[in-house]
Amino acid sequence: MRVVSTFSEARSAATEVYHRSGGEEGPAAIGLVPTMGFLHEGHLSLISQARRECRVVTMSLYVNPRQFNVSSDFDRYPRSFERDSQLAAQAGVDVLFAPSTSEMYEPSESTSIQPGRVARTMEGPGRPGHFEGVALVVTKLLAGLGAQKAYFGRKDAQQLTMIRRMARDLRFPIEIVGCPTIRESDGLALSSRNVLMSAQEREAALEISRGLWAAALAAEGGERSAEGLCREVTASGDRVAWEYVELADQDDASLLDTLDRPSFLAAAASVGKVRLIDNLFFDTRGGHLAVDRGIVLESPSLLYR
Ligand code: PAF
Repeated sequence: MRVVSTFSEARSAATEVYHRSGGEEGPAAIGLVPTMGFLHEGHLSLISQARRECRVVTMSLYVNPRQFNVSSDFDRYPRSFERDSQLAAQAGVDVLFAPSTSEMYEPSESTSIQPGRVARTMEGPGRPGHFEGVALVVTKLLAGLGAQKAYFGRKDAQQLTMIRRMARDLRFPIEIVGCPTIRESDGLALSSRNVLMSAQEREAALEISRGLWAAALAAEGGERSAEGLCREVTASGDRVAWEYVELADQDDASLLDTLDRPSFLAAAASVGKVRLIDNLFFDTRGGHLAVDRGIVLESPSLLYR
């Protein structure tokens, strides 16, 4: 694995690996896995999907200050370059792009990206500037690293909708691939922030996935009203501070009253100082309801090892 810190080194390293790997035929040339590090099985699953589908896998590792609306959240975000580079190499990353903030942003720059209405629901109002920050950094990564496919987790459902929409609106020649959420064996969705919770907080946090599970069963049993589904989620308990629970359209993140199209049921809640998000994806194509609850690990994730 090559570790590089500038956009141009990342592009040259990926091109070199591509030519060494020998040929024009076959899978997409470069697959990009954007991350903020402190890797877990969620990231590793993105890497392995990129590995299967692309000749070269570039992973970016950058804790983007522009997407944190609270500076203490940025300061607390877990970081370990040593651990991340070892895991990335073992997972088959070819090029690890770890830029400095001066490589990512110039003090004189003036361009911003406004994601528009997809950023006005759920995460949007409570986290001013968050989606603009994600949109700007992801635009730089998509434009600057020469990938043909980029991989993002369904765990950040609204982010995935926003990035798909942006790549389509701006005509980026890149395919955005959404991958399933990975969960601990007790259902907790993997997030690098999980390591910031105490054992009691972690136990309380299970109310989120348990609530979503109850809503999944209700949907499978025929419940279609957003109100009914959201009620199932929050009925799981009050040890977490619920911020929102909403049913939203996968296409534009607009809020829905009825589950009648591809959508996701998204929840945000805080446990102590840690804010968590989670969701279920609903597919209604073909007239049948399919619920994507994600993939459940059999043993504790890398976050607890
Ligand atoms: O999902 C994340 O980890 C980040 O929002 C991303 C896409 C890497 C942009 O900083």
